[in-house]
Amino acid sequence: MKVNLPVRKAILNRRTYEAPAEGRSDKVRLDFNENTSGCSPTVLRALAKLTSKQVAMYPEYQEPTKRLALYFRVRPEELLLTNGGDDALRVFFDTFVDSGTRILICEPTFPMYRYYAEISGAHIEALRYSSEMGFPLEDVIRALSKKPRILFIANPNNPTGTLLREKELRRILRAATDTVVVMDEAYAEFSGFSAVPWRHRYPQLFVTRTFSKVAGLAALRLGAVIACEKSLAFVRRAMPPFPVNLAALVAADAAVGNPAAMRGYVTEVKRLRARFAAQLQKLGVKSYPSGGNFLLANFGPLGPRLVRRLEKLGILLRDRSKDMGPGFVRITMGTSSEMQRLLRSIRKEWRRPA
Ligand SMILES: Cc1ncc(COP(=O)(O)O)c(C=O)c1O
Repeated sequence: MKVNLPVRKAILNRRTYEAPAEGRSDKVRLDFNENTSGCSPTVLRALAKLTSKQVAMYPEYQEPTKRLALYFRVRPEELLLTNGGDDALRVFFDTFVDSGTRILICEPTFPMYRYYAEISGAHIEALRYSSEMGFPLEDVIRALSKKPRILFIANPNNPTGTLLREKELRRILRAATDTVVVMDEAYAEFSGFSAVPWRHRYPQLFVTRTFSKVAGLAALRLGAVIACEKSLAFVRRAMPPFPVNLAALVAADAAVGNPAAMRGYVTEVKRLRARFAAQLQKLGVKSYPSGGNFLLANFGPLGPRLVRRLEKLGILLRDRSKDMGPGFVRITMGTSSEMQRLLRSIRKEWRRPA
C-alpha cells in the first residue's frame, strides 16, 4: 500500500538524534558529566520502600513538590517539575515558539537548545563563545534588540565551563524586555551561583535545574523550571497532567532530605577540578576555568588520538574536536581514584609515538 505520511517539514529537514553511546556501564565514564560516585544510599532506601499499590497509581505531586520547592528556596507555585532537565528545556518551545520564530543561543553549548529549535521549526541565531571561552556579551545585547523569542544560556556553560555572574546577567535581563531568558543551571550547585532569587524582579527569567548531576539521578529523569508564579502559569498550560514519574519524585525527595551527601559530592568535585587543572597545567595542557562538574581541556593536535587510546583502556572522555577544533576534550570529574587512573593514563599515552 502506498501511503504519503504527512511529516512536518522541520522533521523532514533533520536527522534522528543519535542517542549517547550504549555499553558504558563497566567503563570509567567521564564523558557525560554524570555523578560517577552514584546517588546516595538514602535514595536507594526510599526507592525500595515503594509499594506495588503506589506504583499502580497515578502520581500525586503536591507534597513532594513542597519539599523540592524548599530545596530551591521558592514557593511550590514557582516550581514546575519535568521529566529531566532536557524536558525542562522543551517546555519553552511548546509555550513560546511558533514555526519560523527566532531563538538565540551561544555556541558551543548544550545541544538540546538547537535540537528542540530544529524540531519546532524555529529560526536559530547562534553567536559564538570567544577562543578563550568568554561569553559573547556585547553580541548578545545587540541581538536582543531584534527581540528573539527565547535566549538560552547554560550557566555555567557546557562544555566551556564559563560562568556568568550578576553584573553580566543583569545587563542581559535589562536588555531582554521582549525575550524569554532561560538560564539553564544544570550545574548551579558546583558553581555556587543561581539566578533563582531574581525571579520576582525579572518576569522574563526562567531557571531550569536538574537532579541528574548533583543528586546522581540521571537514570530517573527529574528536572525543574523555576520562575515567578505568573510567568510559570503560561508554561503550566502547555504541560501534560503527569509529566514526572513517582520513582523520580521519591528519589529526589530523599536526595534533598540528605543535603550532606550532595554537599560532600560538590566539595569533592571542586577539589578534584582544581587539582586536575593544576596537573594538566604541569603537563603543558591548557584547561579553562569551569563552574561545572567537568573541565574543558585542549590537548592540541594529538587530542583525538589520546581520546581514542584512553577509550581502548576503558576511560571515556568527550572529544569536542569536531565542533571546537582539534584537541578540545571535555572531562567529567569522576571519583578521586578514577581521576588518578585517568591522569596516569594521560601521562603514559599522550605523547607516545603512534
Ligand atoms: C547544560 C545542561 N543542561 C541540561 C542538561 C540535562 O540534564 P538531564 O536531562 O539529565 O536533567 C545537561 C546534561 O548534561 C546539561 O549539560
